[in-house]
Amino acid sequence: MTVTRTEAHAPAVRCAAPHVLGRCRALVRPALARAVEQLHPWVGEMASYSFGWCEPGGAPADHPGGKGIRQALAVLGAEAAGAPGQAGVDAAVAVELVHTFSLLHDDIMDGDATRRRRPTVWKAYGTGPAVLAGDALYALAVETLAVSGGGPDAIRMLSGALGDLVSGQADDLLFAARPWTGPERVRPEEYRTMAEHKTGALLGCAAALGALSGGAPPETVTALERAGRHLGIAFQVVDDVLGIWGDPSVTGKPVHGDLRERKKTLPVLAALDAPGPVARRLAAFLESAEAVDDAAAAHAAVLIDEAGGRTAALAEAADHIASVERALTGVPLAAAAANELRLLMDHLVDRDV
Ligand code: IPE
Ligand code: IPE
Ligand code: MG
Ligand code: MG
Repeated sequence: MTVTRTEAHAPAVRCAAPHVLGRCRALVRPALARAVEQLHPWVGEMASYSFGWCEPGGAPADHPGGKGIRQALAVLGAEAAGAPGQAGVDAAVAVELVHTFSLLHDDIMDGDATRRRRPTVWKAYGTGPAVLAGDALYALAVETLAVSGGGPDAIRMLSGALGDLVSGQADDLLFAARPWTGPERVRPEEYRTMAEHKTGALLGCAAALGALSGGAPPETVTALERAGRHLGIAFQVVDDVLGIWGDPSVTGKPVHGDLRERKKTLPVLAALDAPGPVARRLAAFLESAEAVDDAAAAHAAVLIDEAGGRTAALAEAADHIASVERALTGVPLAAAAANELRLLMDHLVDRDV
């Protein structure tokens, strides 16, 4: 996957970004573990399972959890404001809890059986328990922020992001029921708004909350929010590309799930909008397929690629990374943290997982 705005940076990006993620994860982990300990033990076990800390039943484990992007954005946001990373830890815990809550519910909505290379929480524990664990994580996130002293601005920022996330998820679900072609089709512009809401809002909130916790002035908080939102769109586009052409043993998620669910992801929308006979064949194929089974999804993936859907989607991701850069250069940021933010952002769109 290559969406580099800076080809010359690429090798350094690959080595350095995991290091940044690891440093932030180590800083946040004790506070995240303390927060999870406050939960009802059964609900806490489901949260720990999701983080990779235990097996179903509670036996300790050490599976790789998520990438920890949102917690890292919060820590780096605080550091970019000139504060120590510790200043962003409560914000980091809150956004990582909200993210986990959204994944627990998202996997139920999408009917996905695998995440982070393991059975999803609803598969391992049941749908009702997974809904409950998601609710508990959401409540814990709000509690964490409320007691952290962030004040009403922080709570408003988090609730605003949550509202957007719900709108994005609603559109994502509604788009699946719309046709592939014709006047009711989903336009790429609608996809962009949906992706900004379901994914960009929380990434923007993570960076902005970190900056707020680090004492940044309002212009800086706003700039980091904007950068995170653009990053989120780019990140979601890459997620959609990986959902079609990624290696499930690396992504830890099912392949072709979006196609089977008739999700209106950018590679498909861009391919359908392309001129030429392949786009017309793709449209006819998708319209005629009553159920998208493995063979149909594999065939559609070839047509999407041939019609230019993958290339167009990655170009769109690169455009949003350029917008990230414009947002970051508009305000004064602590140099080392700004550099790490850039490394991380490049890495996130140039990934296989
Ligand atoms: C997955 O997010 C959901 C999307 C917004 C695409 P991540 O890819 O950050 O998930 P983890 O936390 O690393 O598993
Ligand atoms: C996830 O979107 C967004 C949220 C969880 C809010 P997707 O459904 O596209 O993400 P994956 O591919 O399941 O991680
Ligand atoms: Mg999903
Ligand atoms: Mg989804």
